Amino acid sequence: MCGIFGIISNKSNLEVGKLIREGLERLEYRGYDSAGIAVVNNGAIELRKKSGRIADINKNGWLDSIPGQFGVGHTRWATHGKPVQHNAHPHLDCTGKIGIVHNGIVENYQDLRKELLLRGHDFKSDTDTEVFTHLIEEFIAKGFDLKDSVIQTVKKCRGAYGVVVIHADTPDYMIVARKESPLVLGIIPGESTYCASDIPAFLPLTREAIILDDDEVAILKPGEVEIYGVHEGKKKNISPFEVSYSIDAAQKSLDGVQFPWYMIKELHEVPQKIKEQVQIPQTDLDGFCKAIMDADHVFITAAGSSYYAALAGKFQITRCGGPYIDAVLCSEFVDLVPKLSKNSLVIAISQSGETADTIEAVRYARDKWNAKICSIVNVVGSSLTRYSDHVLITTAGPEIAVASQKAFCTQVTALSLIGLRIAELHNTISKNEVTMYKEALAATSKITQQILVEQGKIKEIAGKLMDFENVYFLARGISSAAALEGALKLKEVAYIHTEAYAAGESKHGPIALIEDGFPVIFVSPPDETYDRMIGNVMEMKSRGAVVYSIVSATDEKITSISDYTIRIPFLDSKYAIDTCVVPCAFVLQLMAYFISIKKGLDPDKPRNLAKSVTVK
Ligand code: G6P
Repeated sequence: MCGIFGIISNKSNLEVGKLIREGLERLEYRGYDSAGIAVVNNGAIELRKKSGRIADINKNGWLDSIPGQFGVGHTRWATHGKPVQHNAHPHLDCTGKIGIVHNGIVENYQDLRKELLLRGHDFKSDTDTEVFTHLIEEFIAKGFDLKDSVIQTVKKCRGAYGVVVIHADTPDYMIVARKESPLVLGIIPGESTYCASDIPAFLPLTREAIILDDDEVAILKPGEVEIYGVHEGKKKNISPFEVSYSIDAAQKSLDGVQFPWYMIKELHEVPQKIKEQVQIPQTDLDGFCKAIMDADHVFITAAGSSYYAALAGKFQITRCGGPYIDAVLCSEFVDLVPKLSKNSLVIAISQSGETADTIEAVRYARDKWNAKICSIVNVVGSSLTRYSDHVLITTAGPEIAVASQKAFCTQVTALSLIGLRIAELHNTISKNEVTMYKEALAATSKITQQILVEQGKIKEIAGKLMDFENVYFLARGISSAAALEGALKLKEVAYIHTEAYAAGESKHGPIALIEDGFPVIFVSPPDETYDRMIGNVMEMKSRGAVVYSIVSATDEKITSISDYTIRIPFLDSKYAIDTCVVPCAFVLQLMAYFISIKKGLDPDKPRNLAKSVTVK
């Protein structure tokens, strides 16, 4: 949540404002209700900030033309204080010499603010962040240098922070610090240093990166970084690593084709990303699988789409002979699981690896109950990876669209692979079945490709659904994960109220809303639930619902009682049908995209949402 981008360089004639604005635009998926830039310019700080999206704020080059030598910018997702100009970052201290941007939450900001007000500080915003600026101001006044002032300040602040601090009187460096909010550094040795909330922000500028750890503070100079521990104060020796993914990953083009939105570009990446996921070395899964099989109680936890991937995954792992797994939303974990038995294990799923609730659940299970942690994460080096005993990195690559889609597809695939590896290592299902499942899993790449080729039908149905205010999604068994993901996607990117229900449960409430013309989407692959689904379709139809069904290419029965169908070219085998979540969810993700653009909305940046939810 919130994007930070800063730059310090010794290159002459650098367009600092433009570079910062471009970096912020690459981070806009993290928050987009206001933005601003502060730069040091000949012994003073220049500040420009406003509410709104960066492109609007930068009309006539207002941000690009800010004069200065180095500086920092911020794109905000409001937590403390409305998204208005005075709450936009950067914030300045009373002297106007210190500028700061912050991602995270200062939990004790009210007490700190009260004390600072009593000591005569003038607050210009309602944010928690502003306490940082005034505390740093006080430490500077006491004679500390900028780095030590930041260290003293973060020691007083409880909570999470990624902060960048500039000072008008220190023209040759800036300071960054981090705890529980991401902050990464990019370096062109001897020339330029960048700091950002995420690597794609500086990928067009450099591939040399350092991921700052919790409780670290760094001095950034042009092309040079010094890192210190906040508590022990010692200088650390950390070398940059080379980022392996391509710049394309963070742009709207793919294989030379330019897409209008990240969401559709990333949906087009799905076939290839599944292929890469399926091809990861099987032995990479062994530690993960052993930990699951050795545990006495296994939980799986996540938020949003990652949680729905978790629901599909827990089912697959158990079906393959792994243990029964309890799924708990990460935001509920601490409250719903007051006790973990000895030898418990938590599988955490997250695209960003930074979701605050996921991290809280994991830390609670690990620190309080000594549970082992296995995580499936898309972002290398993210916080979650640091709290885990075993990590499986998904192959989705950078995902920029706020509503996750390709990450979901690779998460489900990765969890299925874990189930199959457990089956292989523990002979829980026959070798022949493992082979059939593996073939089916690999085929989901081709099936999603085929769905893209034949997307006309999905577009047509999108046109029929776009004007409804409410849509139900019904499914049974593992397909419920696809229905939940489809309902979430439609809600997020097309602002349609949706509910996904277990089809059998629909009689216990949802059916009361059914009247002539109410749209109900059934996810109905021909699995063991199929005959019961026929009954559920009939119940809805006979009360006037308009039925849209996701079925197999050869389906007859549900097709004959549905008003519209989208047919998925599954392979003709039980194993392919058991592996249906990704193709079914993919169809629904595409449909949500088409409805969003037909309604003239921005599918990449839905209102009020942010991609990386780093607040609880
Ligand atoms: C946000 C995003 C969702 C995502 C969820 C969990 O709500 O908009 O797309 O599924 O966070 O994020 P994570 O990074 O933990 O998977």
